[in-house]
Amino acid sequence: MNKTNLRGAMLALMLGTASVAGIANAQVTTRPWADPKLSADQRADLLVKAMTQDEKLTLVYGYFGSPQTQPKFHPPAEARMGSAGYVPGIARLGLPPQWETDAGVGVATQRDSTDPYRERTSLPSGIATAATWNPDLAHKGGAMIGSEARDSGFNVMLAGGVNLLREPRNGRNFEYAGEDPLLAGTMVGAQIAGIQSNHIISTVKHYAFNNQETGRMVLSANIADDQARMSDLLAFEFAIEHADPGSVMCAYNRINGVYACENDYLLNQVLKTDWAYKGYVMSDWGGVHSTVDAANHGLDQESAGESFDKQKFFEGPLKAAVAAGQVPQARLDDMARRIVRAMVAHGVVDHPVTIKPIDFTANAKVTQADAEEAIVLLKNDKALLPLAKTAKKIAVIGSHADVGVMAGGGSSTVTPVGGNAVSGLGPKGFPGPIVYHPSSPLKAIQARNPGAQVRYADGTDPAAAAKLAADSDLVVVFAHQWAAEALDASLTLTDGQDALIAAVAAANPKTVVVLETGGPVLMPWLDKVGAVLEAWYPGTRGGEAIARVLYGEVDASGRLPATFPASLDQLPYPKLPGQDVAKDTRFEVDYAEGAAVGYKWYDLKGHTPLFPFGHGLSYTSFAYGGLTAQARNGTVTVSFQVKNIGARAGKAVPQVYVGPQIATGAGGWEAPRRLAGWKKLALAPGASQTVTLTVDPRLLATFDSKTKTWIVAPGDYQVSLGASSRDLKAQVPVTVAARTLPVSYDGK
Ligand code: GLC
Repeated sequence: MNKTNLRGAMLALMLGTASVAGIANAQVTTRPWADPKLSADQRADLLVKAMTQDEKLTLVYGYFGSPQTQPKFHPPAEARMGSAGYVPGIARLGLPPQWETDAGVGVATQRDSTDPYRERTSLPSGIATAATWNPDLAHKGGAMIGSEARDSGFNVMLAGGVNLLREPRNGRNFEYAGEDPLLAGTMVGAQIAGIQSNHIISTVKHYAFNNQETGRMVLSANIADDQARMSDLLAFEFAIEHADPGSVMCAYNRINGVYACENDYLLNQVLKTDWAYKGYVMSDWGGVHSTVDAANHGLDQESAGESFDKQKFFEGPLKAAVAAGQVPQARLDDMARRIVRAMVAHGVVDHPVTIKPIDFTANAKVTQADAEEAIVLLKNDKALLPLAKTAKKIAVIGSHADVGVMAGGGSSTVTPVGGNAVSGLGPKGFPGPIVYHPSSPLKAIQARNPGAQVRYADGTDPAAAAKLAADSDLVVVFAHQWAAEALDASLTLTDGQDALIAAVAAANPKTVVVLETGGPVLMPWLDKVGAVLEAWYPGTRGGEAIARVLYGEVDASGRLPATFPASLDQLPYPKLPGQDVAKDTRFEVDYAEGAAVGYKWYDLKGHTPLFPFGHGLSYTSFAYGGLTAQARNGTVTVSFQVKNIGARAGKAVPQVYVGPQIATGAGGWEAPRRLAGWKKLALAPGASQTVTLTVDPRLLATFDSKTKTWIVAPGDYQVSLGASSRDLKAQVPVTVAARTLPVSYDGK
């Protein structure tokens, strides 16, 4: 290029840059809220100031994203057809629409949709990711599904299910993260942060005490404030502190008699005042029951009211309520402000989503890594696992293991890449059908045993299965428990699977059981089988993940995020509340256990569970030592070492529990011990690692409702180091000074 041209090119470039800068400056002057140098608060204030009343009202109502026949409804054309929701944008102000997709394991579309983004990558279930006890994996998984949401044109992901596993029969336990507030809040918080790293909003849900599906729309969960704050609300608090989710989704049920989505205590007092939450509250789909109460008590956005509420409450009636002064104008301004503040804060405005191709191969690696670390080795007699590759005849039985792995049902179900591996199973309508991801454990086992005869029986005929088992060197029997939204599940395996397992084990003691369940199940055949793996719903690459653990290509490193009961008698409610109540008839669930959820209940009552919280075997062995605990101005720091004393690499999950030395339950403690920290350690043979962690002082405190403070009583506490909540390796006392923390304390 000669000098003249060069000069011309430079001039053009400068003018071009000038014009781009000019536009940007012009934009900032005409749209001051677009200035990225301003804070999200400042930009939200400027946006709301610029809005008309109707624009504010546009933001607070979202439509279902799927055509409905009953009531008849078709979403606006701009919606992503077949999706969960759509809120129109405000082009005049540069605000994009809010395109909403479910949920916590990937982009889930409504069953009947033929939308272009139907098949997507599925993580293993939420409880599986919790079973990894690995927040980094949870973050990676969230980042992956958030990228698929973004590349599918969504900027709001309805993820972050964190309801505590109080009721092991809850049909949605698979979507959540187990029974402990610290584990659940930390793991779900990590996933939410991963999702939001894609410049999209994630929810945390279902706020709060949506702990069973039976009667979810009508029941009242009744619990005292202090017990609430030390259990389910603490899980939400930890998740919000970890990830600052753009939105909180309020639940269907009532809490102490008041619906969650119009509950002033939950929304205005706890969430928005005590925790100073700056995001917005969206309703669950069908969770709104009023206009004035819902708006004044803290709801900011009604979801899909035209399809799921008795009427639309925030489109139409809200405008009139504001005009009549029943809902203050300032409240409507605050609703709009919270929504746009979240959109600005999480990059939805500055990084508009566009539909892009997805790298399913790369994403499959992410979900597989999660699934592998989620698998819990519950039992392993005579080191039956890892499977030897010397077996000449291997029987693989049951649960469609020849073609795939089970997924949980309902709004969170991702349509598999490659389609459903088993069609025609389960309910035709919602929350069905039963979905299997096309990742065959049988094929993965065959691939590892090219010289062996690997035969499959579907398990529908126990006698035939037993015959095959008798004629095999090794047996791997797969058993499932399908759990789904809107239903509660039995802890007893369905479809005669207990009899199948018993028959197979009687025919061949070298039987491995692989469970694909949504949560805890009973195991009447446990002492008859050689080994048991809990694989949960292992997602898109579940078959491969199961085989890698079966053959020891990776250590079994999952640990239970929930207690497995030995019998229903051990539960706070042996009979599921509301079981015999007529549909849509209100009933009360008095949470007598209060904050003593899961292992805390078992410790308080002295029950011996089938498998305790935190349990999980490894293919190697670990030694634990050097436990020390120091207290300095109310904060306890714990340190210890873990060494791999076995012959192969493995992953340990040492857990720290704390409790008062004083008698159980005294001083307001709900139970002898609480999980106070953990670390997942990958250790080569002979390697050791020192871990130091600090205990959040709220875990040493009880909540005092009168003063709304966390109170750490002075005195001696017990610090325990365990391989589970029951397998305690070392204990040291520590003396802690009195400390009082404000309700606004956020762990920093
Ligand atoms: C469902 C669920 C909620 C989901 C929403 C949209 O009923 O309760 O988790 O995000 O509706 O599908």
